[in-house]
Amino acid sequence: MDSGKRNVLIVGVGGIGRRHIKGYLETGRADLTLIEPDAAKRAAVVAEFATVAAYENLGQADLADYDLAVICTPANFHVEMMEACAAAKLPFLVEKPLAVTLDGVDAAIAAVARAGILARVGYIRRIAPEVIHLRAQIDAGKIGALKLAYLNSSQDFGKYRPDYRTTYYARPDMGGGAILDAASHSFDMLISIMGRPVTVGAMYDRLKLDGSETEDTCLISVRFASGAMANLTINQFQKRNVASAEFIGTSGNLKLDHATLSFADDDSGHWLEQRDFMEGMVPMQAHQARFTMQADTMLDALDGKPDPLATLSDARTNLSLALAAKQSWVERRFVDLDAAS
Ligand SMILES: NC(=O)c1ccc[n+]([C@@H]2O[C@H](COP(=O)([O-])OP(=O)(O)OC[C@H]3O[C@@H](n4cnc5c(N)ncnc54)[C@H](O)[C@@H]3O)[C@@H](O)[C@H]2O)c1
Repeated sequence: MDSGKRNVLIVGVGGIGRRHIKGYLETGRADLTLIEPDAAKRAAVVAEFATVAAYENLGQADLADYDLAVICTPANFHVEMMEACAAAKLPFLVEKPLAVTLDGVDAAIAAVARAGILARVGYIRRIAPEVIHLRAQIDAGKIGALKLAYLNSSQDFGKYRPDYRTTYYARPDMGGGAILDAASHSFDMLISIMGRPVTVGAMYDRLKLDGSETEDTCLISVRFASGAMANLTINQFQKRNVASAEFIGTSGNLKLDHATLSFADDDSGHWLEQRDFMEGMVPMQAHQARFTMQADTMLDALDGKPDPLATLSDARTNLSLALAAKQSWVERRFVDLDAAS
């Protein structure tokens, strides 16, 4: 292995594992080894990318040989993978959501803390320039005191993941569905901007997608410790691709529409400021570029530099919120988070 580069272990090379592989190779700062139980996928990825080695399971790799693990398995495997990294004192980035239930989560977080290793969660939008800008403007008081947020993240999921019926997405016990899989990203945006959620109420159902046991639609209301409130709508079948998040303060509004950030503080009906952070870029290229940015950020963090990525604690709050939202609809009531987690 090239001694100037970090040795990075990519665990699971499905849809998101491949994005991480491209991202880390693009940095030019990492040599990659893969773990993938599916022999055909493993062979295909080895053939396509310059990798140092590839194994069938984590037990075959000597974790002491690595500087960083990127855990890209379905979420029901995340706790055991985090435990393995903690035992080997191997820093890691784990994909979202942190897990599928809270079973073993606190023990794994405690093991990581005892090991004293860097651990982050792959909420990719944390490093998106438009989201960083949005958060900075809210923190600087541009819209006064933040009181409300309306989020809508809806698109034709089957177009982007035609294999969804055979992946974790179709299985509630593997972390699939509109809440644990999709809403998880929006929850992270809300938690990182609005703070600690305290109460949640939700409705959800599978309205359209076939071949799945999970919900494809959810309507979720959240109250935060600050007293601010948010409303989140997701459907995973509509044709138009909507990704909007409007933050409403006492003296103005900031709205993110995909990567376009707009600001207004009057009733003219026009945005006074507007900037498209993806101007000139193809959306999928811009999405992949974020994985390179996230990889660079993780490699910098290994060198001790500060980073904006989600912590295990952030992701635990996120998981509690998702599970409480599910509980809310099952029990037909609002759920307080402390009581639910
Ligand atoms: N950050 C994002 O934008 C984003 C997007 C999609 C998925 N994800 C998350 O990434 C994770 C994986 O999603 P995906 O879409 O790549 O799923 P996927 O089903 O396409 O790939 C998962 C891979 O993990 C492998 N795997 C299963 N068990 C394993 C084990 N014990 N050891 C090693 N590999 C194992 C599977 O064989 C498969 O190749 C999920 O937690 C998901 O929520 C994140």
